[in-house]
Amino acid sequence: MVIREEQSSGFDAIRAVHLSAFPSANEADLVEALRRDGDAVISLVAMENDLVTGHVLFSRMRAPARALGLAPVAVLPAFRRQGVAARLIEAGLRMAAEQGWEMVFVLGDPAYYQRFGFGTGQARDFISPYAGEHFMVRALVADAPRAGNADYAAAFSRLS
Ligand SMILES: CC(C)(COP(=O)(O)OP(=O)(O)OC[C@H]1O[C@@H](n2cnc3c(N)ncnc32)[C@H](O)[C@@H]1OP(=O)(O)O)[C@@H](O)C(=O)NCCC(=O)NCCS
Repeated sequence: MVIREEQSSGFDAIRAVHLSAFPSANEADLVEALRRDGDAVISLVAMENDLVTGHVLFSRMRAPARALGLAPVAVLPAFRRQGVAARLIEAGLRMAAEQGWEMVFVLGDPAYYQRFGFGTGQARDFISPYAGEHFMVRALVADAPRAGNADYAAAFSRLS
């Protein structure tokens, strides 16, 4: 398996991964809207030979520090439970830190995301429509803010 940045030739394959993973086209459309709006910052694919088996996107947020939102992440059903998503998420977090991003938010299952350093407690004092028991943040720097507004890119609010 190889993890690398997306290429425009793979956009259809990325769409197919999201369509295979979610009950509607919302996430596939979200990826395309974030790209169109210029809000997609880190977009990584997992490749098995020439097949795109997984995809993760990190998009720009408006927050008290340089922040990204991790969403969506998806893996083709036949390639799940082999650590593909973990490799994508770890590579994305590494790149985010290297590029000077200070925090990453995610909405998801705490049991899965806490292994990557995300925590619900640290996200408690951020204001977001997604705030709650599934809203998590991971600081990438020691002095990251602990409160404030955490707004996802505009494409998220256009989700149906
Ligand atoms: C969520 C999703 C991205 C996870 O992808 P994945 O590649 O299967 O994820 P991982 O392999 O990293 O981890 C998944 C599970 O497999 C386990 N696992 C990882 N490697 C494994 C291995 N070699 N053998 C057995 N299990 C393994 C992990 O421990 C984890 O299980 P747990 O949560 O019960 O502890 C995938 O299931 C998916 O596309 N789901 C539909 C879309 C979705 O819900 N996306 C998330 C919301 S945006």
